[in-house]
Amino acid sequence: MRKLIIAGNWKMYKGLEDAKSFAREVAPIAKGMDTTNVVPILAPAYPFLAVLQRDLEGSPVKVSAQDVSSHPDGAFTGEVSAAMLASLKLPYSIVGHSERRAYHAETNAIVREKLLALMQHDICPILCVGETLVQRDAGNTKDVVVDQLSGALHKINLYNQGEIIIAYEPVWAIGTGRNATGEQAQEVHAIIRKWLKDKYSETLANGISILYGGSVKPENIDELLAMPDIDGGLIGGASLKPDSYLRMLESAVKRANGEQ
Ligand code: 13P
Repeated sequence: MRKLIIAGNWKMYKGLEDAKSFAREVAPIAKGMDTTNVVPILAPAYPFLAVLQRDLEGSPVKVSAQDVSSHPDGAFTGEVSAAMLASLKLPYSIVGHSERRAYHAETNAIVREKLLALMQHDICPILCVGETLVQRDAGNTKDVVVDQLSGALHKINLYNQGEIIIAYEPVWAIGTGRNATGEQAQEVHAIIRKWLKDKYSETLANGISILYGGSVKPENIDELLAMPDIDGGLIGGASLKPDSYLRMLESAVKRANGEQ
């Protein structure tokens, strides 16, 4: 059975003290939850990865990077390699976030290089895909998402469940307060799962977690998690406050344990 994932993407928010006090508050509470079937994840900015890992030790909360360099090493000022992330024993890294695609000109080909770099170091990529409002209104959602998937996973063989996580993040829903409804998200998640099945196998497709991202908050998480192909959330704004993050985690725990 796929586990539910509650991943907080802190983007360029939270300094050292803020990150530490979040961990102090969240770690003991998360530890007290039955997270057998749930994976809580937090993705802080690069400088705080190691601190957060240390402060969350002994709790079920895992730490993720928000991005990675496509290069193995070299003169790339400001970049962080997959080997560096692996040296921290980081289990996850987000890759291909729409903000990277939009503001840093990341193409599907670059996203693919980054995916490969992560996989070579046994870091599970959280691959983001999603359409803009213009693309949705033009009826191109499926084409855009499939193009992003096939570009990023071109000639990449997946062998194991849990080797990759996909996050469907419609750009029009990110930071806008306007989330996709459960049905809207489910429709695209089903397309993604079908694509994975056709490219790989039914078993593999059924083992890959597909997260929804875009204005997820405690008030709408239950509706989203109720959908058969939605396996959790990649959450920006609503993951910044411990209380809000914990409420969403609690929702996932309840659902995973069949309590709602
Ligand atoms: P918001 O939850 O703030 O809409 O951000 C979503 C997102 O981009 C997570 O990666």
